[in-house]
Amino acid sequence: MSFERVCEASDLPDGEALKVERNGIEVAVFNVDGEFFATQDRCSHGDWSLSEGGFLDGDVVECSLHCGKFCVRDGNVKAYPPTEPLKVFPVRLEGGVVYVDFSAGHITP
Ligand code: FES
Repeated sequence: MSFERVCEASDLPDGEALKVERNGIEVAVFNVDGEFFATQDRCSHGDWSLSEGGFLDGDVVECSLHCGKFCVRDGNVKAYPPTEPLKVFPVRLEGGVVYVDFSAGHITP
């Protein structure tokens, strides 16, 4: 595991998302009631940024292009048209700083 600092927790308010990129890997970080989650930023249905073009409602992000929905906790599809889940990335919150392991993106089994 190789966690990298992405932001201060206070920089990402509840219900908001932030796009971060390391070595070409684009990740969306979400704040859900003070819990932080990270998924691939690109919608699995098309070339669309979920952090910049999505709406977070609780732990579900809705893609604004075709209204697909995903749970940001496990990446699973919550509403079609997407059929493929999102990769999720390990997140750590330490001392008010959010860290993401960009090398460990995976589909939830
Ligand atoms: Fe996201 Fe189609 S691109 S639902």
